[in-house]
Amino acid sequence: MPALTDIDACVFDAYGTLFDVVAAAKHCQDDLGDQWAPLAQIWRDKQLQYTWLRSLMDEYIPFWQVTQDALDYGLTTLKIDDAALRERLLNIYLQLDAYPEVASMLQKLKGAGLKTAILSNGSPEMLASAVTNAGLNEVLDGVLSVDKLRVFKPDSRVYQMAVDDLGVAKNRICFMSSNAWDACAAANFGFRVVWVNRFAQAEERIPGKQEFEISNLAELPPLFGL
Ligand code: LAC
Repeated sequence: MPALTDIDACVFDAYGTLFDVVAAAKHCQDDLGDQWAPLAQIWRDKQLQYTWLRSLMDEYIPFWQVTQDALDYGLTTLKIDDAALRERLLNIYLQLDAYPEVASMLQKLKGAGLKTAILSNGSPEMLASAVTNAGLNEVLDGVLSVDKLRVFKPDSRVYQMAVDDLGVAKNRICFMSSNAWDACAAANFGFRVVWVNRFAQAEERIPGKQEFEISNLAELPPLFGL
């Protein structure tokens, strides 16, 4: 008997879960030197903080704009003033690498008859670009962006959108995120949740608890007996 049963759809967070968010800064190591890792960290932290702040302030702007604002904060903090580098970083962000196990993992799930989708803060153009670049169009049934709702995760309307768009009850949706807060919020909403704890982080102290914790997505199909 597989560990995970009674699931009709697998829904994935995008950034940090399917796509490697530090890849953009890493690919610019030649220009950034030792600062690539601090920049990647500030960029990601600010990007998330701005989504939460803007949702609370009712001041939505698309994630692509948030991503640029967060990068500018990071570049200013690290005293990097280089317009060409900024543009290079943003161009790479539109074509982030997928983690190596992602394509074959999605193929296995789809092959077993499960629906597969992304549910992300990413704006539609960002997600389309990343999915196409990683060659994932064939293995995804849906790419759902919060942009339609004009509010970011973890607003519960975002998770509800997956239920509505996929036509699958929330207790038959398995949600995967590497972002602990997103995993908690999705579990609190009522999804079955697998936390992809890629970075061996501590658990968050907020409501909602995952059913399983794995360290990368290659460990997901075996939970379904695949
Ligand atoms: C996303 C962010 C939270 O893809 O990683 O929604």
